[in-house]
Amino acid sequence: MSTTDDLTVARGIRGAELTARAAYALRANSAGPMTRAAPDLYPHQWSWDAAFVSVGIAHLDPRRACAELDHLFSGQWRTGMLPHIVFDPDEHSYFPGPDRWACDEVSEDPPRAPRTSGICQPPVHALAVERIVAIADQQGAATSAHVREWLPGAYRRLLAWHRYLARERDPFGTGLITVYHGWEGGMDNSPRWDGPYSRLAVPADLPPYQRRDTRIVTDTSQRPTRLEYDRYLTSVEELKAAGYDDARIRATVGYLTTDVFMSAVFAAASDALARIGRALGADEVDELEEHAARFRAGVAASVDAGLGLALDTDLRAGGTLPVETVAGFAPLLCGGLDPAAEQAMIELLGSERWAGHPGLRYAVLPTTSPASPDFRPRAYWRGPSWPVINWLFVWMLERRGRADVAAPLRAASLAQLAEGSLAEYYEPLTGEPLGSAAQSWTAAAALDLLLTSPGTPAEANADGRRGVDALP
Ligand code: SER
Repeated sequence: MSTTDDLTVARGIRGAELTARAAYALRANSAGPMTRAAPDLYPHQWSWDAAFVSVGIAHLDPRRACAELDHLFSGQWRTGMLPHIVFDPDEHSYFPGPDRWACDEVSEDPPRAPRTSGICQPPVHALAVERIVAIADQQGAATSAHVREWLPGAYRRLLAWHRYLARERDPFGTGLITVYHGWEGGMDNSPRWDGPYSRLAVPADLPPYQRRDTRIVTDTSQRPTRLEYDRYLTSVEELKAAGYDDARIRATVGYLTTDVFMSAVFAAASDALARIGRALGADEVDELEEHAARFRAGVAASVDAGLGLALDTDLRAGGTLPVETVAGFAPLLCGGLDPAAEQAMIELLGSERWAGHPGLRYAVLPTTSPASPDFRPRAYWRGPSWPVINWLFVWMLERRGRADVAAPLRAASLAQLAEGSLAEYYEPLTGEPLGSAAQSWTAAAALDLLLTSPGTPAEANADGRRGVDALP
């Protein structure tokens, strides 16, 4: 816990001030039992945002972290799916809102309240829960007892979520998650999806719509294009027409891919959920470990020898999607490569194609390689550096015993965050903050990076074993 005071950060803001700013941002974004993903741009609760945010909140108040996840769980579908947005009924400034998704009109699976979207996001939740338990354990007996009393209920919710993903998103046991929409993997306009989306025809009768995002981020170079939104909305119409039924979706929609990043998150989260289950004496540990092994193998088998990165596949046109994006480092999140292959990937990560690129303001991971023709340094997930992604890589690498690889990424991420605005993403060549300011998960990243010691896993695992000893 010494890093806060020790940290001298770029542009003169010290760690203690950054900690205070991050805590303030999370408090300001709180809307009762949930936290807005960002103050104006995203005024509802997003699924993977909520998981990351709950870890940040846990450093301040573990009970509130549990409440954050309980609010997300209140939107869980009876299939087990955790939807990507749980809507605040008092907020009407975001598009597409619940009426456009119309989930409760075409499906019996969502809850009647709260209203939700009809797709999901990367399953980082079990990772977050494991970390919340560990943080609470360091904050005194009463707090620890509260969180441990909450844990069995959270475990049942997460078990249903993981079973949904294993059953409906990998029906043929490939070890790769199928996604129905570019928003599901969380990296909306990543060039990973350009090929499959170029093959999705936007119908002439696509219902008209008015974007809201570009009223808030008025520099449109930072947001997805109109054509990209047309395609996102086309997918929504197709999902609606399929009644959000997984089997009908797989049979009918025009856009369908696998997602190697989401699959790696699922493998790592399945390890975490298995550890939680074991600590609780649950019956499903073998099943959860099978999920972890299956998806770890699926991710490892996706590595392209030429690019040295793991690739997604287009399930409609067939074939892999050879693009140099940060998602290609997915095996570093969950393990599974042999030592030589892992070392090669680590060297690529530090190379001039990635964090070692000489033009970068900070040696963090951009979302697309600056050496790639697809690199767009201001355009959302096409090149900017996202603190939350760098945090996730630091967190997983440290958990896997690779503090040596994580350490420079941790230091560079903090240096980037020290400019103080807690931006959604950063122009990687100039360090300019972009998108929303005071983004909740960026605040959570700052808090967690500041309040945990570099190079050591912050937590004992939920079953009491410390750190890397218990990891794959
Ligand atoms: N990230 C999306 C948006 O920009 C939705 O998940 O609204």
